[in-house]
Amino acid sequence: MTHPEFTMDNHWLPFTSNRHFRKDPRVFVAAEGMHFTTHDGRKVIDGVSSLWCVAAGHNRRPINEAIKRQLDTLDYATAFQIGNDQAFLAAERIAAMAPGDLNKVLFCNSGSEAADTSLKVALAYHRARGEGHRTVFIGRERGYHGVGFGGMSVGGIPANRKAFGAALLPRVDHLRFMHDPVNHAYIPNEEPVWAEDPLVELETRILPLHDPSNVAAVIVEPIAGSAGWYIPPKGYLKRLREICDKHGILLIFDEVITGFGRLGTGFGADYYGVVPDMGISRPTRDSSGTRSLRFTKYPDHEVPAPAALSQSSWESSLAIVVGGGSR
Ligand SMILES: Cc1ncc(COP(=O)(O)O)c(C=O)c1O
Repeated sequence: MTHPEFTMDNHWLPFTSNRHFRKDPRVFVAAEGMHFTTHDGRKVIDGVSSLWCVAAGHNRRPINEAIKRQLDTLDYATAFQIGNDQAFLAAERIAAMAPGDLNKVLFCNSGSEAADTSLKVALAYHRARGEGHRTVFIGRERGYHGVGFGGMSVGGIPANRKAFGAALLPRVDHLRFMHDPVNHAYIPNEEPVWAEDPLVELETRILPLHDPSNVAAVIVEPIAGSAGWYIPPKGYLKRLREICDKHGILLIFDEVITGFGRLGTGFGADYYGVVPDMGISRPTRDSSGTRSLRFTKYPDHEVPAPAALSQSSWESSLAIVVGGGSR
């Protein structure tokens, strides 16, 4: 089926079989609340809030109005050497909400960019402290940290590694995946309890192999989402924190799918009571695709929701929160 008003020759969809898509396209032309409207007039539930970006619902009037107001006030200014009031306000509010002593906010334009940026910050941090030899990163099998080269390197999605493997970061290792139903009982909706320490291999194999003093950071999703939904075994994140602390390794939580209230707490870090050194997250965004962030009262409680915050470099759909530097 071909849409009457446009061809499908020029727009590539990511993570999609485009040839297949063209044969049976799912094209939306409008949205309201939790529904999309298809190009042929059907209503379809957006069951994943457009990959967790539209948690406040589509086309929320207060959000749309705030975006319009901001567009009329300050539409864009470059972010180099210049700031804008709304970005500073947003950073203050995120810092107040962030777990522990995390109080620095660096806005990026996507989860992928934030993941890569967090790795860069880790390298720069160690170098500034005279430990430039710390260049090894440790991710986890089946982890997803976006589509930049850094994120793909620490990620563990085989399909991403297939085409780009030869160009990935050279000094990266991976923890085993945290779901092992053959050896450790798995009960749906319950926190898995492993008979053995699920991180034993980190201490006994991975760190000795690279030497812990060379390791810059460990990056994990508190809850895995892109390889299916998997919650960590009991005590996993606390144990990871302990191991990182013991060896001076930074711990990065990729909270793109767990941050900003999605688990019922501010961040996954709060849910599990573990404070990372850096957190990456992506507030919800509005259906128009404007990459911006604002906390809006909707309908009667505070939720993270997008609204205009001024110029696009700061109108980010994700934030990277860097620790206040107890070390
Ligand atoms: C855990 C995680 N990290 C990073 C990303 C990449 O975010 P983006 O699609 O905004 O680049 C995603 C995307 O869903 C994700 O789930």
